[in-house]
Amino acid sequence: MDKEISQIHVAQADVRLPADERHRRWLLIRHPVGLPTLDDFLFVEDILPLPPPGKFLVRVVYLSIDPKQRLLMNATHRFVELVPLHGPMFGNAVGEVMISNHPEFRRGDIVTDIFGWQSHAVADGKGHYSSNPYGTRKVDPALGPISTAIGVLGSGGLTAYFSVLRELKPRAGETMVVSSAAGNVGLIAGQIGKIFGCRVIGLTSTDHKCETILRDFGYDEAINYRTTNDLAAAIRRIAPKGVDMYYDNVGGRIAEAVSQTLNPGARVTLVGVIEHYNSVVGEGKPWNWPFAKTMSYFIVHDYHREYQVGLRDLSNWIKQGKLKYREDVVEGLENAPAALLDLFAGGNIGKRIVRVAANPAGIA
Ligand SMILES: NC(=O)c1ccc[n+]([C@@H]2O[C@H](COP(=O)([O-])OP(=O)(O)OC[C@H]3O[C@@H](n4cnc5c(N)ncnc54)[C@H](OP(=O)(O)O)[C@@H]3O)[C@@H](O)[C@H]2O)c1
Repeated sequence: MDKEISQIHVAQADVRLPADERHRRWLLIRHPVGLPTLDDFLFVEDILPLPPPGKFLVRVVYLSIDPKQRLLMNATHRFVELVPLHGPMFGNAVGEVMISNHPEFRRGDIVTDIFGWQSHAVADGKGHYSSNPYGTRKVDPALGPISTAIGVLGSGGLTAYFSVLRELKPRAGETMVVSSAAGNVGLIAGQIGKIFGCRVIGLTSTDHKCETILRDFGYDEAINYRTTNDLAAAIRRIAPKGVDMYYDNVGGRIAEAVSQTLNPGARVTLVGVIEHYNSVVGEGKPWNWPFAKTMSYFIVHDYHREYQVGLRDLSNWIKQGKLKYREDVVEGLENAPAALLDLFAGGNIGKRIVRVAANPAGIA
């Protein structure tokens, strides 16, 4: 024990921790049933943790806000790990290594991992959660702004890339429908459909979102599913020859309507079922994930061995102007719970992230 402490002190000898920097984090204090509330979370502050041998301390710069985080609050299926009560909320993040006692990570490295809803994280590089068993990834700031490591050049972009290319396999001239079309994954999936020559129809919840995906992201058609009485009829009107591919981010009633418009042999990728994430079933129990993996529910991590191929193509498409992305930045870690709840009100366009700290000097 004494040896460990002295090793820490030796390693920290040249490190001056900013006196005003505190370890701030959100704990989950209640497993919600139905829509979460701000009272399900507790904000706590403490002194900065120091990394023991084999670990490093990260200052989180951006935190990802994802629909899946709602699932983590109840552990609804076997692909999702339960956030323990009074444990820190899980979340992908990108940050800068402040102090390292790990041979492979150096002070100043930009890294991404499931660092959680906190201002600082102590990590060992190995990855611990089923959501990311592959460990901490170093981010090359030359590829783009570091925030993209948790967005278009992270899980969201890779999800869109592999689900469109490996499951839908788009062919020029085909018609593709995308739900949650103005969201993080949906915006990228729709544009990949366009890159492969498809006619792409987006479904989203407001006229403003419809206008945005048509004007800024190249969708051919957009339907406001909230103000449309008969969604299947509305799709048939603009796709009289039927739908060849459905990119399903939401499940539920929207998926039922789209299924009535599918051509024989149409391909569907089931990427998410957000309509159910806050559902309550039976006697007030949280909704339970009904799908076995054999039902071909898409899981981005199944493609982890090919991530570099996906990142290369996504980054090239961005450079070539074929793929645009948008970040919806919420300021301040203290607003993370509200940022998550607002996803379920459709408050975002593009990738929702929380800015937790200023970018490191000289890094975009
Ligand atoms: N399988 C995988 O490996 C994987 C990986 C990443 C994400 N996902 C899934 O992909 C989907 C999209 O994720 P994302 O990160 O891109 O989120 P997102 O689409 O950016 O954000 C959530 C959006 O979902 C829509 N929404 C919210 N509540 C809804 C409801 N009750 N019914 C219908 N739509 C609702 C809203 O869009 P509108 O305003 O358009 O309704 C909202 O803006 C989610 O289902 C997520 O779980 C799966």
